[in-house]
Amino acid sequence: MAIISSKQQPPDPNLPEDIAPTPRKKVAKPQTESLLESQELPDEINNKQEDKIRPQRLAEYIGQKDLREVLAIAIAAAKSRGEPMDHLLLYGPPGLGKTTMSLILAAEMEVECKITSAPALEKPRDIVGLLINLKAGDVLFIDEIHRLSKVTEEILYPAMEDCRLDITIGQGKSAKIRSIPLKPFTLVGATTKVGSLTAPLRDRFGLIQRLRYYEIDELTLIVQRTAQVLDTKITPEGAEEIARRARGTPRIANRLLRRVRDYSEVKNLKPIDAEVASLALELFNVDPLGLDWTDRCLLTAMIENFNGGPVGLETLAASTGEDTQTIEDVYEPYLMQIGFLQRTSRGRIATPAAWKHLGFVSPKLF
Ligand code: ADE
Repeated sequence: MAIISSKQQPPDPNLPEDIAPTPRKKVAKPQTESLLESQELPDEINNKQEDKIRPQRLAEYIGQKDLREVLAIAIAAAKSRGEPMDHLLLYGPPGLGKTTMSLILAAEMEVECKITSAPALEKPRDIVGLLINLKAGDVLFIDEIHRLSKVTEEILYPAMEDCRLDITIGQGKSAKIRSIPLKPFTLVGATTKVGSLTAPLRDRFGLIQRLRYYEIDELTLIVQRTAQVLDTKITPEGAEEIARRARGTPRIANRLLRRVRDYSEVKNLKPIDAEVASLALELFNVDPLGLDWTDRCLLTAMIENFNGGPVGLETLAASTGEDTQTIEDVYEPYLMQIGFLQRTSRGRIATPAAWKHLGFVSPKLF
């Protein structure tokens, strides 16, 4: 591949066309892009098979060792006191098991788990209805909790603190506040943006826990466990090949496993070994480190157009046709995690590891 060591300039309008540098062609995104999306895809929501592959109890849960230990203690202590567990805030990138952990928590406490998300709690009556219907000890899971409206959030404060709903009746001077007692419950809030939570809401959680990306050996075990649930034969090397391309995320690992399983069944290449997994994932455009078309496009643009950076987020977005929010929320976290991208005060930098992975020779600046 090309060896780039100087900044590529924008085309000079004064140069004859045949010697002016050609702007990089915009190639259409392949359809397989969503395979590596860490958010739940529409067909994965309320899907019975997806539910089947979720671990049901803490003992079946692989990875997140610190979180498991903290929760095991909190659950045992709450159970021995006959009280619900303290409110829990889970934060971290999507797809790492926040909903699963909430369901496990409810199963361990032998209570029900009601699942909702902040965008569904638009009006005060939405959250009021949910709170009033909770039974003693139930778990209420609110996804994307950083997106709660101010009124909904203010209804939650006394509910979380004193198991009380304060309802305002009437308006203006004659308005009265009526308090309604609630059953004690555990609120589990999940967010990918803990910094966007207001301090009063954050302070009402007794436990604040981060979920981190999974290691390859943890994901390998998850793929093996899921393959067993799906009654699919896979070798340890086959599971590891899938794990390496899953961006540290169980949701992606399980999605890749399904696609590899389709491939191995159709081609009659069973069991799934490293070669079958690798052939299938190459076909789906997932590279050996789990980078997809957009990751490669971003890094290539940084290297080819800006000599690896630093390049501002807005400029990078403009030169790749992606929006800044998607770059920040979806692509950068994993690229930073694997050490391919650095965020600095002067802009984004593609590291020598990224240059090497994409087949470029980096200048000796590092
Ligand atoms: N499936 C998805 N996430 C899992 C996990 N953390 N442990 C076991 N199976 C899983």
